[in-house]
Amino acid sequence: MADHILEMRSITKTFPGVKALEDVNLAVERGEIHAICGENGAGKSTLMKVLSGVYPTGSYEGEIVYNGEVVRFGGIRDSEHVGIVIIHQELALVPYLSIAENIFLGSERRGRFGLIDWNAANAAAGELLRSVGLDENPVTPVGQLGVGKQQLVEIAKALSKDVKLLILDEPTAALNDTDSEHLLGLLRRLRDRGITCIMISHKLNEITAVSDNVTVIRDGRTVETLSLASGEVTQERIIRGMVGRDLESYYPERESHPGEEVLRIEDWTVWHPTQDRKVVDGASLTVRAGEVVGIAGLMGAGRTELAMSVFGRAYGRNISGRLFVHGKEIRPHNVSDAIDAGIAYATEDRKHYGLNLIEDIRRNVSAAALGKLSTRGFVNGNEEIKVAEGYRQSMNVKAPSVTSVVGKLSGGNQQKVVLSKWLFTDPEVLILDEPTRGIDVGAKYEIYTIINRLVAAGKAVLVISSELPELLGICDRIYTLSAGRITGEVPVAQATQENLMQLMTKEKELAA
Ligand SMILES: Nc1ncnc2c1ncn2[C@@H]1O[C@H](COP(=O)(O)OP(=O)(O)OP(=O)(O)O)[C@@H](O)[C@H]1O
Ligand SMILES: [Mg+2]
Repeated sequence: MADHILEMRSITKTFPGVKALEDVNLAVERGEIHAICGENGAGKSTLMKVLSGVYPTGSYEGEIVYNGEVVRFGGIRDSEHVGIVIIHQELALVPYLSIAENIFLGSERRGRFGLIDWNAANAAAGELLRSVGLDENPVTPVGQLGVGKQQLVEIAKALSKDVKLLILDEPTAALNDTDSEHLLGLLRRLRDRGITCIMISHKLNEITAVSDNVTVIRDGRTVETLSLASGEVTQERIIRGMVGRDLESYYPERESHPGEEVLRIEDWTVWHPTQDRKVVDGASLTVRAGEVVGIAGLMGAGRTELAMSVFGRAYGRNISGRLFVHGKEIRPHNVSDAIDAGIAYATEDRKHYGLNLIEDIRRNVSAAALGKLSTRGFVNGNEEIKVAEGYRQSMNVKAPSVTSVVGKLSGGNQQKVVLSKWLFTDPEVLILDEPTRGIDVGAKYEIYTIINRLVAAGKAVLVISSELPELLGICDRIYTLSAGRITGEVPVAQATQENLMQLMTKEKELAA
């Protein structure tokens, strides 16, 4: 008999108009890494919120058995009290506070006068940072750390609470390969220390690399649990469970017929908004009609900064260089100029730039192109709904209706709304920044199909992605960016992960 630290039995959770979970069962063995897989909107995050008391007892049906006893959590403190700690999909650290302050925020580390003893706290934080392999001073503000390191601080924080069951909701979605490796290594070490992990991820290669068991959920129901020991933990097997069929290939076929040049960026240089350094340095590139062009680069290479500065100077200062759309020079001074010039930029950061989370799907889709729906300053409400409904169907957005609030959609479905919004501006050039981050395999395929449809209609698409296989799978040409400079331009037929990687690290070597 397996020693189960946790059993969730017949969990059903309903939101107004949505049955998020129906009769879901999950059994987790003590000391294992248990992955949860499923399409966007399948109910993974909801299940973990039920487990951690974010949704308290009484707001769902079914029972949770932890260490052999039925538990009822009235809130997140109750679950933490017994050693269950959740790290959410969106990180929740306070950027202005130090690492130590973040770790001990809200915990009971009080000294003699009921005050927190910061000397002791910093020392304890230092100890925790060492245990997660993070070489940083505990007094450093968290905002100065990259996402990879912030993720480690979250784990250090969980360890400070004496965690027994650690839940990570898409911990590596925003991490580069090196940081992901590091994090997965840490999970293995925690497992060796007897800490049980539940991990949600869309990165199937990582799941197959670390998981002992994988539970697949689809449309709010448990499909199956696959076990490593029985040799069932393979990507093909997980995908079949997730989408209910085999996926023939990851990338849709496309015939490439590049036409005339649509976008030309010449000698583009951008300075950091506050620091005295160039973030983009003399970058030049072109994208032709019917072409998908990729930008590959490591974190900090300046990919997003390049895109945002082109998009109406939404980033940086002292911007110089020239921009052309269809051979005509444009000088966009702000985002709306850029949109008028036919450029759209779908951001990787849905929460801050991409969407208005308190508005519904309809308003988000129409937001960047209200002019198309207005006569004499009045928005045609029926038309607005019709447009949004069209995207909801064609993009397969999981939501009861276009009046559903975007903040309540699952992460992947929010991303589809971002795309819809920019497609509706009918751009000549669509710049996509990490378009499939946090997106499930099936939906990725749908997004690639949408990209193909766009270029077939003669548009130009520029894609920034940290996933080299993705760039290799969908692009015609790939530029590499390193330390703000274009270090290579490779037709996809000649590109490999190895030669791209070499070009992506070129400037660094020169600088070293
Ligand atoms: N607070 C809420 N109010 C209404 N509906 C919600 C709420 N939270 C989630 N939902 C709905 O419940 C379903 C499951 O969402 P959930 O966030 O659990 O999906 P997920 O599997 O984590 O997806 P993703 O991979 O995109 O993160 C979705 O249809 C979602 O829109
Ligand atoms: Mg989720």
